[in-house]
Amino acid sequence: MHLLYKIIFSLLLCISIAESQDLSGPLGEFCNENTKISSGGKLSANIDKLLAEFILKTPSTGFVATSYGNNQDQVYGLAQCRGDVSTQDCSNCIQDAAKQIRQKCPNQVDARIWYDYCFLRYNNKSFIGDVDTSFGIFYFNVKNVTDPEGFNKELGSLMGKIRGQAVKPKAQGLGKGKTNLSPFLTLYALVQCTRDLSEISCAQCLAVAVSNFPTFCDNRKGCRVLYSSCYVRYELYPFFFPLDSSKTGDSNVARAIVYPY
Ligand SMILES: *[C@@H]1O[C@H](CO)[C@@H](O)[C@H](O)[C@H]1NC(C)=O
Ligand SMILES: *[C@@H]1O[C@H](CO)[C@@H](O)[C@H](O)[C@H]1NC(C)=O
Repeated sequence: MHLLYKIIFSLLLCISIAESQDLSGPLGEFCNENTKISSGGKLSANIDKLLAEFILKTPSTGFVATSYGNNQDQVYGLAQCRGDVSTQDCSNCIQDAAKQIRQKCPNQVDARIWYDYCFLRYNNKSFIGDVDTSFGIFYFNVKNVTDPEGFNKELGSLMGKIRGQAVKPKAQGLGKGKTNLSPFLTLYALVQCTRDLSEISCAQCLAVAVSNFPTFCDNRKGCRVLYSSCYVRYELYPFFFPLDSSKTGDSNVARAIVYPY
């Protein structure tokens, strides 16, 4: 399995070093080219209605899963903000996502867009409640840790703890925590499932995400796995709310994209 990933990794991935990553912009998008629609049609109009509803309703609860239209023109949609972000950050993120997704995927009925603070997708095929790890985006710090053995042990145990939190009944798919690696170094990690998933499906998505660590995150100082059903991230600086301090992130980040195969 890992070998297969590595082959795909070297064949299909575009790895781009983002020197000064725009922290508020999209991390990536997926426009399914097999789902082309005409831009003036009913499906397209229903997508716009759905996006308007996302902008209106997502900030108050952080999550909307709904559909718009009837029969062959029905579109299903999901919008979610990361569980730790404020209503205002959520609102800004969803507004930007709704605008960007239509620009990036103008003629596709299956489209998805990822940000750190939010995620949004729609499709004319129902996907609510299903685990989807077919398309993944990985961001990793190009720098490696100095003590891989000790680091991986601590990372594994922190991940185990927050994955356990995320699948608790009232957690809404969110788990986060930190571990002191030394008096000067703290490891921060966060996992988030989409809130339409059952606990078992959330656990399944997180297990797939973490199983990619050896391939994409191996000994890296920071890493993010972005799927349509879950988000996993760890860093050696605080990145989730409430923020630990004003220490900022590391811009030495590279991106890899894994397409469905
Ligand atoms: C979704 O839309 C595409 C393009 O119009 C169409 O070919 C497909 O049959 C639709 N699927 C469903 C489940 O309605
Ligand atoms: C980090 O380790 C990977 C292998 O795990 C290696 O390919 C990469 O060049 C290393 N990066 C640096 C900056 O040393």
